This record gives sequence, C-alpha cells and structure tokens, in this order.
Amino acid sequence: MQTLGEFIVKKEHDFPHATGELTALLSAIKLGAKIINRDINKAGLLDILGANGVTNAQGEAQTKLDKFANDALKAALEARTEVAGIASEEGIVIFKGEKAKNAKYIVLMDPLDGSSNIDVNVSVGTIFSIYRRTTAIGLPITEADFLQPGRAQIAAGYIVYGSSTMLVYTTGCGVHAFTYDPSLGEFCLSHEKVRYPTQGHIYSINEGNYIKFPLGIKEYIKYCQQEDEATGRPYSSRYIGSLVADFHRNLLKGGIYMYPGTASYPQGKLRLLYECNPMAFLAEEAGGKATDGTRLILDIDPYPNELRQDLKIDPKKLLHQRSPLFIGSQSMVEKVEQLIAESSKNIF
Ligand code: AHG
Ligand code: MN
Ligand code: MN
Repeated sequence: MQTLGEFIVKKEHDFPHATGELTALLSAIKLGAKIINRDINKAGLLDILGANGVTNAQGEAQTKLDKFANDALKAALEARTEVAGIASEEGIVIFKGEKAKNAKYIVLMDPLDGSSNIDVNVSVGTIFSIYRRTTAIGLPITEADFLQPGRAQIAAGYIVYGSSTMLVYTTGCGVHAFTYDPSLGEFCLSHEKVRYPTQGHIYSINEGNYIKFPLGIKEYIKYCQQEDEATGRPYSSRYIGSLVADFHRNLLKGGIYMYPGTASYPQGKLRLLYECNPMAFLAEEAGGKATDGTRLILDIDPYPNELRQDLKIDPKKLLHQRSPLFIGSQSMVEKVEQLIAESSKNIF
C-alpha cells in the first residue's frame, strides 16, 4: 500500500530540479480535504447544512459548507510558504507578508462543488488548480496572476466526497487516484495512470434545459438515444449535478459531461478558471478531451491583450468568467463538436 504522501515524494525524484515546494503544497491541499471530509461526513449532525444567508461574488446563495470548505482550504494554504494567494468562487485573496512575496505558486479552487447536493446526502467535491505566479518573485502578486490559460497549470485535481472519498490529481504525468482510508487517516493509491476507456456509453447533461440548447446539442442528444450496435447506443443518461462526481464516473466508465451555453446563458454556468480548466487538464492527461464546442478549454486565454488594454475591465470580475464545457472520452467529445460545427453551417 502506498500513501499519497509517499507517492508524491517518489514522483518528485523523477524531476532532478524539484525543490519539494509543490509536494508541500499538495500536502496542504490534502490536509484541507481531510478537514472538509470530516465535517461533510457529519453534515446532518453539525449545524452546517443549508444556506448561510450570504450571496457570493456572482450573486449565488452561499451555503454554510461553501464557506466552511473555503475557510479550511484557505487556512491550510496560508500556513505554508509556497502559496502567494488563492482564488475561488468567494473571490481573490492575496496573502500578506514577506513569505507570500517570495512564494512561487498560486491556487485556484472550487472548495465545494455541487453544494446544492449536500443537504440530500449526494456526492460533492473540491476542485483545485495550481499555477506558477506571473509577477516577479519579491513583489506582491496581482489579480492578473490568476488569469492564466489552463495550459499553464502545474497541477490540478479534485476530491470527490462520495460513497468513499477519493483524491485524484495530475502534475502532467498521468492521472492518479487515491482512496481515503478513515481508519488510517491517509489517502492510499487505488488507481495509477487512469485512462478513459476507449468507448464510452454515458452522457451527462441537465436535460431540463433542452428547449434552450443550441441545435447541435439537441442533435447530439438524439444521436446518444439512437440504436447502433457498433457504438453501443443508446447510451445511458446519468446526471448527478455535481461536476466532480459526474466527471469522476465518466472518467472511470467512459462518457461525456456537457454544460452548453443556452439561449438565456450563452456561456453556460461553469466557471472557466476554477471548474473547467482543472477538469480539462485531468481529462487530457487521461486521454480524453475538453472543449467549449469549438476550442480546447486549455487554450482559452482568460485575459487577452485587448482586455488588458481596456481600463474599464476589472480583472477581479474576469476570475468568474464562464465557459460552455464538453468533457470526457475523446471520440464522444469529437462527435458533439462535429454536430455543433455542422449545425452552425446550416444556419448561414
Ligand atoms: P457549485 O456548487 O460549485 O456552484 O457548482 C455547481 C455546478 C456543477 O457542479 C454542476 O455540474 C452544475 O452546477 C449543475 O448545474 P445545474 O443544476 O444547472 O444542472
Ligand atoms: Mn462548482
Ligand atoms: Mn462551489
């Protein structure tokens, strides 16, 4: 049996110039995850269910657990010397002091994903994404440090609090999954080098929004429901409503998760920087694909030059930008891209 800590240290030896800082940072995330896991497991007993009456930066109701999870991770990361600042649904926090001025990394995160599921005992998750700072060492970082394309990620991962708790991460050398053993208080290696199965049979989308979906998506849903022996259709429809849990199932079984733009929300619901990008990094590392329908998620520049030059644009707001997301088994993502492209040709 190999613990997450042992595994990360072993991997570090593969990089001769590694300083151990990323290892320390991942271990802070591991600690935060254990704290969140402990309280989620007692959610019905502690007074942590439901909304806390606060509205977050994007006008969404914050749940008590959103706040709790954010605080737990913030405390674990701030205590270290490796992190210059963090950003999440709750906003950007630039850490103060000399330690932060010299810290190499920044962390973006969705501390509690799927928060509406927590009150009904359905799987939720935590998503994290790690980048090198872009501001020179020795200076305080700025909001722009958090607005990097996903391709620049150093590491990304998630914790899924499900029937068991698992931590899944990548540093660009494959995707590895660890299952939490509560009796040991350790995450233990359970799936090394996870890859999507070649052919997936699951599609995950909130079909309640069907009427407002673009034509290409409606056609893909029809395609999933048709009978075809060669591709194993009809596919099964599975939707939990927690991106982490839906992604995790599709990663292990083969499938596609979709949150398209709709007539009312052209950019969809999911946040590019702390939901789409980390999941896209994991998907690509597992042999899958993630796009917004036409572009690879990891290639999207959240702060292109034309926005940098526009003084009316507040970089703090760009943190919460949204993107449509099609993520999962490569052949399934390519099929939906093909139908999106064909349907847009038909319009003109
Ligand atoms: P969060 O709880 O962090 O706001 O994220 C919820 C997200 C995502 O996890 C999930 O897949 C999606 O919202 C579900 O949205 P719908 O209820 O619109 O399907
Ligand atoms: Mn989320
Ligand atoms: Mn959240």
